[in-house]
Amino acid sequence: MSDNAYRLISPSGNEIELPVRSGTTGPDVIDIARLYRDQGVFTYDPGFVATGSCESDITYIDGEKGVLMYRGYPVEQLAANSNFLEVSYLLLHGDLPTSAELEKFDHTIRTHTMLNEGMLNFFKGFRYDAHPMAMLSAVVGSMSAYYHDEMDASNPEHRDIFAHRILAKLPTIAAAAHKLNIGQPFIYPRNDLNYADNLMHMLFAVPAEPYEIDPVAAEALDLLFILHADHEQNCSTSTVRMAGSSGANPYSAIAAGISALWGPAHGGANEAVLTMLEEIGDASQIKKYVEKAKDKSDPFRLMGFGHRVYKNFDPRATIIREMCHKVLDKLDREDTPLFDLARELERVALEDEYFIEKNLYPNVDFYSGIIYRALGIPTSMFTVMFAIGRSVGWTAHWREMISDPKGKIARPRQLYMGPAQRDYVPVEKR
Ligand code: CMC
Repeated sequence: MSDNAYRLISPSGNEIELPVRSGTTGPDVIDIARLYRDQGVFTYDPGFVATGSCESDITYIDGEKGVLMYRGYPVEQLAANSNFLEVSYLLLHGDLPTSAELEKFDHTIRTHTMLNEGMLNFFKGFRYDAHPMAMLSAVVGSMSAYYHDEMDASNPEHRDIFAHRILAKLPTIAAAAHKLNIGQPFIYPRNDLNYADNLMHMLFAVPAEPYEIDPVAAEALDLLFILHADHEQNCSTSTVRMAGSSGANPYSAIAAGISALWGPAHGGANEAVLTMLEEIGDASQIKKYVEKAKDKSDPFRLMGFGHRVYKNFDPRATIIREMCHKVLDKLDREDTPLFDLARELERVALEDEYFIEKNLYPNVDFYSGIIYRALGIPTSMFTVMFAIGRSVGWTAHWREMISDPKGKIARPRQLYMGPAQRDYVPVEKR
């Protein structure tokens, strides 16, 4: 018997030994892969609260200590010293690039920003008020129609081109969706601009006059992309891995991830935070809303609070809060009351016994919406911004999943609670 094993006693009194595996850091995992084959039982873990679905080298989170690392680098160091493209290279390739590697990567991304003109026609078919997340998911899904024959997942070069296209084209698609919503002409990408500047240009420039990019706004956007770039096996990333595990076209797997991100329990929370703050409206109403959030008969939750993994401050929220100050100081100050309201809500919730006891802290989405709004990005586009940042994480995970020699189609089991076998009754006898 191995020293490093879990031992369980089955109902019939047999001792079952389950191997334990240790990662580089973090809790050990019990390997239950042979449990059904050897013992005829499954495990039950709705929401995968205690289940690891894969091995991964990409991102590490310690939810108790509020630690987030990409490829071993603490997110605070990357936020302070790096930029989104360098972080993207790191996530995709495992190490920070040399200056020559970074220059080449930057050039590649800049020169893949245009969409096939046919793809732009999709936007003519959407209603003017279509939600941009719906358009993003649909148009990214359509990339599988454009790039199906030239996408051989077993070819590393094809996997690289897929990653470059996703990273480079998502801002262009996002901006096209925004322009449709506001009735302005589509603005083509400019490859002389860096990633965040180019997105600002496509979102806000109009053909009628020159557009000047605000460096503070672009810096804030780049920072948000770094903070959103990856978060290990979250709902949308697991969706990308799961869809991709069947061998599906990876562009459609990314479209599935975008759809998963849209939900208010996940990336849609940044939009929901702003809606909630506007509904609260005034500091005098905070107590009432905190009480609503605590009331189990009321479905209302404090949006931007709580996290499946962080049972301490979300490190991304701490960084964003600082950036929020900077943005509101330098840009239009008209959102300051909203920011003050958010700070007051945070203070009240953090002192409340319910939130303390359940370890409910502000998460990344609590402040990101305020920044986006100060940059002039409409609420419906907030989750789209999150998707642009997260796209590199999805891509890195898809690449890791597809090149894993031990990879299997993702296929969970269940506890069946439906009717036991029964006989068909003809309709006239029911
Ligand atoms: N307001 C009030 N109560 C809450 C909240 C909240 N925001 N979040 C959790 N709780 C309570 C919940 O009712 C439960 O209470 P009890 O144990 O009495 O039943 C307890 O805290 C544990 O919550 P849970 O729903 O079992 O925890 P979870 O890990 O399944 O859910 C979450 C995590 C993020 C979905 C949840 O905290 C939530 O709905 N938060 C609001 C939405 C949000 O901000 N989402 C963004 C997440 S961060 C960005 C991202 O990942 O995309």
